[in-house]
Order: sequence, then structure tokens, then C-alpha cells
Amino acid sequence: MPRQIITPDKIRDHVVRLGDLYPPIPMDSVDFTVNNPELLKSRFGHVLDYLARVELEVDRNVLELLVLLPDVDETNRMFYADVWHPQEIRHGLLLDRLQVDIGQPPSEPMNEVSMGIKVLGMMAKLPPIQEVVRFMYFLTGASTERQAVLAYNVMTEGLTEMGESAIAKTLIGQIKQQEPGHFAFYQMSATSMIQHEVLKPWQLFLARVIRERTYGLVGTNRNDKYRAAYGGVVESLGLDADLYGYAREIGRVEGRLLWANRNGMEVPPYIFDALKQSVALYHEQLAEQAA
Ligand SMILES: [Fe+2]
Ligand SMILES: [Fe+2]
Repeated sequence: MPRQIITPDKIRDHVVRLGDLYPPIPMDSVDFTVNNPELLKSRFGHVLDYLARVELEVDRNVLELLVLLPDVDETNRMFYADVWHPQEIRHGLLLDRLQVDIGQPPSEPMNEVSMGIKVLGMMAKLPPIQEVVRFMYFLTGASTERQAVLAYNVMTEGLTEMGESAIAKTLIGQIKQQEPGHFAFYQMSATSMIQHEVLKPWQLFLARVIRERTYGLVGTNRNDKYRAAYGGVVESLGLDADLYGYAREIGRVEGRLLWANRNGMEVPPYIFDALKQSVALYHEQLAEQAA
């Protein structure tokens, strides 16, 4: 692997830097001026609703983390408790305020920890399983944050094009700055585990099996309603024009780390499948509504 070795100190420094650089976005630093609420609603209303919910579901993500990895080290604790959660919750509150401003109902986050996670949490009490779960937690984080980075990039461009420069700059623009640091944290953490050979071959095998069976796009919560809604987001953002390319982007980290035995699978098929499924469910839903 030609990459630099990622030491625990490097990851820790990254987290400290994120905390220093990016306190939660101050509410009063955001200009919520919208020139054309109707146009904004028709173009990005659905995306706003989806993203607000996903950001607010960070409360559940923290509960899940505590179930799965109750003994995280200080760097991980500092990341989720002092940096990540405060930033993401603020993203959710800001996006929700904007969607209510333009006449949409407030977001309804799903904040209950699922049975599946609780069962996995019980299995994760065994140290070798705990390591597998920790690795998958980092992969999930990397894929999830990459989806956020891409969504906010496309939105910033779209809003600027529409002449909604106040929210493009002061709302989405500020959120957009914070997501790449989250992605980097998960990516570095997962990469470091591979570089330091924390996982034995059987643990990597197990991670592959579980990942293939349980991969979920951000905010889909193992539920077809949310999967269809994700398909709508993909279309609103125009990501369906190159769905395979999008799958490659959000699957790059695990393609490289988890599937290295297959020369680094460029696009893990289960990710591309999940995307195709979400778009298909969205179309089914549209057809039902039209009928
Ligand atoms: Fe966020
Ligand atoms: Fe994030």
C-alpha cells in the first residue's frame, strides 16, 4: 500500500483540529433569505427533508454506537461526542428550519435503535467480533459521509445557479465545509486498522459477508419507504445520470480495504444494487401515486 502509515496520533490530531476549526455552525451566522420558496421547494424540497432527517438521526447513531462499541477509545469518544454529534445535530436543525420556512412540515427523525443493532451489540461483546464491528462502523461512516459531501456539493451548485446565494453560501456552504473532515476521520480509521493488520483473515471474511448482506444507503434504515425517498434524492440531485460512478465514489474506501483480495473491487456490487433498488422503488412509488 503506497499510502502513509496512519498512526493513532495522526487520527487524534485530525479530530482535535476538526474540533478547533469547526464549532457547530452558529445559528445567527446563517442567512435564511430565500428569493423563490416555491422554486426551491420543487427543486430541492425533497432533498432538504431527507437531509434534515438524516442529520437529526445522528442522535440515534450515537445510541447505536454506544450499543455496538461501548468501550471506544478516547479519540473515538472525542470524535463522536465533541465534534461529530454537535456538528451534525446543528446541520439538522438548520436544514429543518429552512424547510419549515419554505412551508414544508418539520422533519420526523427515526430515533429508535433497531433490534438488529441490539443483537449485533450482544455479539460484539466478544473481542474478535468487536474488532469486526468497529471496522464496519468506520466503513459505514466513510460511505455515509461521502454521500453527504456529494449531496451538499451538488446542492451548493444548484442553489447558486438558482440565484439562492444566501443559503448556498451561509447554510449549505458552511455545512459542506464540515463533512469532508468527518469522511477523513472514518477513512483514516478504517485504513489504519488494515495497515496495522488488526483483523485476521477470518475477521475480514466475516466483515465481507456481513457488509454484503447489510449495506444500507444513508438514512434508509432498512425500510422501503426511506429507500424510495433516497431514490428521489438521487434523481433530484441528478446523480442518476451516472449511478455507477456515484456507486464508485461512495464505495471507494471499502472497495480498496475490504475487497483488496480481489485486487480492490472498484465498485462493490451491493452498493450499486442498493442504488438501483432505491431508484426503482422511487419510480414504483411515483407510478402508484399517478394511478
Ligand atoms: Fe452533516
Ligand atoms: Fe457528517
